[in-house]
Amino acid sequence: MPEITFAKPVLPEDGVLVAPVGETLEFSPLGAALNEALENGLKRALEAADFTGKAGGSATLLAPGGYKRVLVLGAGKPGAPRGAEALGGAIAAALAKEEAVSVLADGMSAEEAAALALGLRLRAYRFEKYRTTLKDDEKAKLAKVVVLSHAPKEAAAAYERLSAVAKGVELTRDLVTEPANVLFPAEFAARCEKLKKLGVKVEVLGQKELDELGFGALLAVSQGSAREPRMVVMQWLGDPAHEDKKAKKPKAPLAFIGKGVCFDSGGISIKPAAGMEDMKWDMAGAGAVTGLMAAIAGRKAKLDVVGLIGLVENMPSGTATRPGDVVTSYSGQTVEILNTDAEGRLVLADVLHYANTRFEPRLMVDLATLTGAIIVGLGHEYAGLFANDDELAGQLAKAGEAVGEKLWRMPLVKKGESYDKELNSPIADVKNIGGGRAGGSITAAQFLRRFVGETKWAHLDIAGVAWGAKDGAVTPKGATGFGVRLLDEFVKGYEG
Ligand code: BES
Ligand code: MN
Ligand code: ZN
Repeated sequence: MPEITFAKPVLPEDGVLVAPVGETLEFSPLGAALNEALENGLKRALEAADFTGKAGGSATLLAPGGYKRVLVLGAGKPGAPRGAEALGGAIAAALAKEEAVSVLADGMSAEEAAALALGLRLRAYRFEKYRTTLKDDEKAKLAKVVVLSHAPKEAAAAYERLSAVAKGVELTRDLVTEPANVLFPAEFAARCEKLKKLGVKVEVLGQKELDELGFGALLAVSQGSAREPRMVVMQWLGDPAHEDKKAKKPKAPLAFIGKGVCFDSGGISIKPAAGMEDMKWDMAGAGAVTGLMAAIAGRKAKLDVVGLIGLVENMPSGTATRPGDVVTSYSGQTVEILNTDAEGRLVLADVLHYANTRFEPRLMVDLATLTGAIIVGLGHEYAGLFANDDELAGQLAKAGEAVGEKLWRMPLVKKGESYDKELNSPIADVKNIGGGRAGGSITAAQFLRRFVGETKWAHLDIAGVAWGAKDGAVTPKGATGFGVRLLDEFVKGYEG
């Protein structure tokens, strides 16, 4: 990852420069100084290249004057949402093979300069620990980025705050990218324990404890695997009332719950071979919750937040759950398991009920790569948002819009109505699949709803957005870290 620093706006005399230029084609003071140093060469080059300044456009000058390279990036219209972030992403993508670059960010506010740095850092993410034979020219070299700003102190302070969130995103991406032979439930839990050094309280419950609690739904998923399950409970106690000697009571926490299926083979209802490798990232919900806890602890958020993740592996074997089996969930409701590939909802049912009864949270939000059907419905642009509360749904959608992790609201009905009725079982209280393939993401959400009581709750189906087949503006292809920035932004709305 490149080291990013902020400095006073002094034009470097050599090296690699990046100059953002917007649609007005006006130069920042440093851009104007550069143009002058190049004897109007910058302006003439942009004209020759028909450079318009539109976002996404660029022009490169090779070896102008004493410089190695000048990259001019289209900055679009002033104040475009997340424009600076996307510029940073474009720099990381275009100049990965340079060792050091200076960015003429003196035309931007300190916040924009920090956002540019964040975008650069997020796009520069790489997961190369298993690439032992990468040749030198295949490696990213960008090691030093200097952002030239008219307010470098403020920009550095703003970037410092954003760095905590970036670290959370990077942690989530690492977890999601790890293969399932490395990241099984016990190893995932061990990585969660590292958050202790950020001040997060971490409890790990194993097979025995979950058995004693009566986590029949989660354990039904896990029982076919040679790997033991875990539930990790992470608490950030940042409410200032904890320090308050006048015994003012801390507010109830916000609770975030994640599906952590470290590998989903489908179990006895086994998946087809093609693409099954993708199911190593069926723990992306749990990964996002873990990254979120790192983010809010890293920036010392001033409220209480709990993160709970259910970690299992869904495998076929002689001890695996059979289609038709009936189990008793932690809530006491019995579940007829008709398809062992509808396993995420079983894990979440127990963890949601545990979170709700132990912490009596103000609200709960779960994240899960829950259904293939959400990809059919929404593709890879929006995650599905289901909520039993309109205000909560609105707050989440707004936070998502602000950080570019977008949510689209989907329907949810009350118990006993339409979609929900599909879940009635002739032998148990509920079955784990609906009547057919139609509305599969909705019946999955309805299943969860039966385990959340009256607590305000939202469910984010992130199956379509947790992994990218293509590069995004600030997400290199692969694990996106979706959910960390969104929920960090959402949490901010509850602080102070
Ligand atoms: N983990 C999958 C959902 C999924 C599919 C995530 C593709 C990411 C990409 C989930 O456990 C699953 O298998 N869901 C089934 C449910 C069905 C059996 C009712 C599905 O979507 O097909
Ligand atoms: Mn499945
Ligand atoms: Zn799954």
